[in-house]
Amino acid sequence: MTIDVAELLRARHGENFALHDQHLNSELAGVLKTIGFDRFYVRGEGSYLFDAEGDRYLDFLSGFGVYALGRSHAAIKAALHQAIDLDLPNMVQMDCALLPGLLAEELVARCGGDINRVFFCNSGAEAIESAIKFSRQATGRPRILFAEHAFHGLSTGALSLNGGAEFREGFGALLPGTCAVPFGSISALRRELQKGDVAAFIVEPIQGKGVYMAPAEYWREAQELCRKHKTLLVLDEVQTGLGRTGKFFCFEHWGLTPDIITVSKALSGGYIPLGAMLTSDRVFSSVYSSLEKALKHSTTFGRNQLAMVAGLATLAAFDDEDIVERARRTGLAFEAALAPLVERYEMFHEVRGKGLMIGLQFGPPQSKALRRRFKALERLRPAIFSQMMVVPLFHRHRILTQVAADNVNIIKLLPPLICGQEEIDYFVGALDDVLQDAHSGSGLLLEFGRTMARGTLRRTGKARPGAPYVPPSANGNGNGSRNGSPSRPPWVRAGGGPPRT
Ligand SMILES: Cc1ncc(COP(=O)(O)O)c(C=O)c1O
Repeated sequence: MTIDVAELLRARHGENFALHDQHLNSELAGVLKTIGFDRFYVRGEGSYLFDAEGDRYLDFLSGFGVYALGRSHAAIKAALHQAIDLDLPNMVQMDCALLPGLLAEELVARCGGDINRVFFCNSGAEAIESAIKFSRQATGRPRILFAEHAFHGLSTGALSLNGGAEFREGFGALLPGTCAVPFGSISALRRELQKGDVAAFIVEPIQGKGVYMAPAEYWREAQELCRKHKTLLVLDEVQTGLGRTGKFFCFEHWGLTPDIITVSKALSGGYIPLGAMLTSDRVFSSVYSSLEKALKHSTTFGRNQLAMVAGLATLAAFDDEDIVERARRTGLAFEAALAPLVERYEMFHEVRGKGLMIGLQFGPPQSKALRRRFKALERLRPAIFSQMMVVPLFHRHRILTQVAADNVNIIKLLPPLICGQEEIDYFVGALDDVLQDAHSGSGLLLEFGRTMARGTLRRTGKARPGAPYVPPSANGNGNGSRNGSPSRPPWVRAGGGPPRT
């Protein structure tokens, strides 16, 4: 018997949160209910999500950067449908299939330097685990340097390179030989590299947890120092890669030639988990050094042909739609549109980032009265201000965003790279509205408190959708057009009437 997916979704519609409460991460369900983010999404298209009520949400989180091409991209869907119908001889394992070769060829062609080898895996963390192993094997050295505030994933090796105590605590001793250096400090890097026992410096070109950046000189010197001390420079492009910052790889901004590159997220097209570690012959062959060692590093699903098709279709769509250049231009337009708000609002300190990886930094205002209010707020909970922005952006304006990390007043925006001026204008208008309330003291805190109180009540009750599940082809709640060119502006509710709060 085949399962009827649409019927399953219809029959069990609304049980989402109860099931998560019961069998999955009930704390996540609790958080989402508390802040009122407990929606019943039924569809994604382009830059938007749709819930059961037909409300449309502008998705500026894009699955933590997975949906560079937007959701439900027609060309990727078509390629995957075709691949399934071709009954590909998938994961034969004792085989060298064509598709992994083709995707590897496409990837290395975009890398430059002497990078010509690829190890395929299933996630960003797994690509980092691979980078740790290959660096140690290639150099015969034990130590790995990482940057403070770094995030490279949450498997044990990757966690050993994590700059946040909140992630590391409680799991016992992590990987020995890992050592944090302040991000952007050449002297600290030099001090550690001089010891001569460092296999690799693993670092994000722009740090995801906070959108922290280092100047071009830092990168040039860091690369030079690594070369001098025979340490491999590993650039983690899992989030910054594939056009996110307005170049295919972020390191292109500074003309770097890393020894290892890690990618994942957007390469999947949003469908099949896919990660890759890209490196040179020299590093690669240190692990695969003889016929006996041909499977010394491997993973069952690593060259999964559906993932390869998703990757190939993604790269083809990037070329067809000129995504990287589009992201660069849209990023500049976004920065220009946000700049007047930084001028206008004392608590909005800075916009930073590159392309469409954008950090909005909030902080204490100059004027005394406002400062008192800000400090009183922060006494309630550190970095509550950014939460107070994210919650009404969602409830009033139906925009999905996220605070960049624990205890920082930074919102990180990762819009789909296909978004355009319409989405920028809508977001800027919404942020303007929320910031205005925060500065005028006209009830934003009250509204925030009410949302949390309602959410806390809902935590004990059953969250239910207000409408039945209707499969996309019939519900007509979408914009019908493909990938980020909506026929209706995002603030107009599909069924008419005001946005639900
Ligand atoms: C820079 C970076 N590296 C690695 C990872 C881990 O990727 P994954 O969640 O696929 O394991 C992430 C995830 O956000 C990331 O941002």
